[in-house]
Amino acid sequence: MNKYDLKGKIAIVTGARRGIGRSISLYFAQSGAKVVVTDIDKADCQLVVDEIKKIGGEGLALKVDVSLESDIKDMVKTTLDKFGRIDILVNNAGIFKTNDLGEMDTAVIDQILAINLRGTLLTCKYVIPSMKAQNYGKIINLASIAGFVSFEAASVYCATKGAIVNLTRQLACDLGKNKINVNAVAPGVIETPMISDLVATEEGKNALLNGIPYKRLGKPEDIANAVTFLASDDSDYITGHTLLVDGGWIAQ
Ligand SMILES: NC(=O)c1ccc[n+]([C@@H]2O[C@H](COP(=O)([O-])OP(=O)(O)OC[C@H]3O[C@@H](n4cnc5c(N)ncnc54)[C@H](O)[C@@H]3O)[C@@H](O)[C@H]2O)c1
Repeated sequence: MNKYDLKGKIAIVTGARRGIGRSISLYFAQSGAKVVVTDIDKADCQLVVDEIKKIGGEGLALKVDVSLESDIKDMVKTTLDKFGRIDILVNNAGIFKTNDLGEMDTAVIDQILAINLRGTLLTCKYVIPSMKAQNYGKIINLASIAGFVSFEAASVYCATKGAIVNLTRQLACDLGKNKINVNAVAPGVIETPMISDLVATEEGKNALLNGIPYKRLGKPEDIANAVTFLASDDSDYITGHTLLVDGGWIAQ
């Protein structure tokens, strides 16, 4: 059971139809927040909202493609119209595509940048004014261990996650005076559809486990727990920080 208090808070989570984003949405709802569950597939978001209802919470499903500025504007307007404020923003939507940079289609490079980096910049751009007006806000960005160390053929993904770490620092400095906390969580290897190809064989799974001192893959709940802490007032004096939740991957 989740131990952080988000009673009465209004939260937006992007990329929340499955994986880490779904788990964050459920943790938030358990903690008392009303959750706007957004992703590219509204029906899947509605399934998460149905789960939220089952545990006695309140949620709203929205189709939001974070690579589309118009979707982001609509998401912010709809949330403010329905709930009157946005206390928590989680920039979770992301894609992981690999290839040697010299072989990668420019369209794929643009897509990774548009979702992982520009999407986060634009959600922040459109959410920050209302957070400033209420002199309160919690922004949590999903970075990655790939923002700190190399991953084979993942130069574009690594670049976006490194940028998220530094964006988190800079935004925290800009927004501290407005009592808006900006932090990131950097997951290690977490069992979600994003990495299903990497763990499809015992060999692949063991290769990953070799890099994890804690000797297990991460679960979405490991990340949701850390994000819920950073969304709560228990972490008020933490800002500009990227919290590694990686079973020790980076410690090696
Ligand atoms: N799983 C891991 O090992 C791992 C490790 C480090 C960081 N992360 C990060 O955690 C976050 C969540 O990843 P996950 O593991 O749950 O993966 P996932 O693929 O299960 O979930 C990602 C979600 O983002 C959504 N998404 C994709 N494109 C989108 C778009 N244009 N607009 C809105 N939503 C979009 C997908 O539909 C999906 O629901 C990502 O930012 C990812 O980079 C994951």
